[in-house]
Amino acid sequence: MNNKKAFIFDLDGVIVDTAKYHFLAWQKIAKSLNINFTLEDNELLKGVSRVRSLDIILGLGNVQASQEDKDKWLIQKNEDYLSYLVDMDESEVLPGVLKILKLLKDKNQGIALGSASKNARPILEKTGILSYFDVIVDGNDVTNAKPDPEVFLKAAQLLNIDPKNSIVFEDSVAGIQAANIAEMVSVGIGEETILHEADFIFKDFTVMDENFIESLITK
Ligand code: BG6
Ligand code: MG
Repeated sequence: MNNKKAFIFDLDGVIVDTAKYHFLAWQKIAKSLNINFTLEDNELLKGVSRVRSLDIILGLGNVQASQEDKDKWLIQKNEDYLSYLVDMDESEVLPGVLKILKLLKDKNQGIALGSASKNARPILEKTGILSYFDVIVDGNDVTNAKPDPEVFLKAAQLLNIDPKNSIVFEDSVAGIQAANIAEMVSVGIGEETILHEADFIFKDFTVMDENFIESLITK
């Protein structure tokens, strides 16, 4: 029994409620292209890279575009997204997250970020929680997007912990699939109807207690 585990957190929609800002920024691009883009469609974008997200939106509207146009929209989307983050502070950390991070630190567990976002570091800095993370693997460090397990495998490797001793907290279907492919324990944060492939599902971190964390550590 190994009592040091890797706890790998996704960022958007797990640690901070930025999924709503990604949605608003993509919706603006979709609207300008006359593409109908709903909250339901947005589930397909969660956990998915920026480039792939644009392709999915263009696919929804059957829109063909030049690389030049795509590059322009990718820049526009990110500028718009970043404008929502200007005033971001610790109040945007989702309820219960800090409690779990503190608990894991007290129990001397490995803590990593495993996110597709290229904006991860500034978000962790602005929200004041960067120092909790032993390892950060983000969109700048991986070539294969979730559901490819690269981001989580890299995080576990950097923590020097076996994937089988790793736990992933995720709000996206693609992320849960990535954790399952990596043979890690997958913990869905969100709705059961969407995240049913996860090993465990919690509405949010407020309903996750110390006993659950302890059971993961001692398993
Ligand atoms: C993921 C989000 O965490 O990061 C996606 O769930 C987003 O919606 C992706 O597209 C890339 O993020 P960014 O910040 O690099 O555009
Ligand atoms: Mg997410």
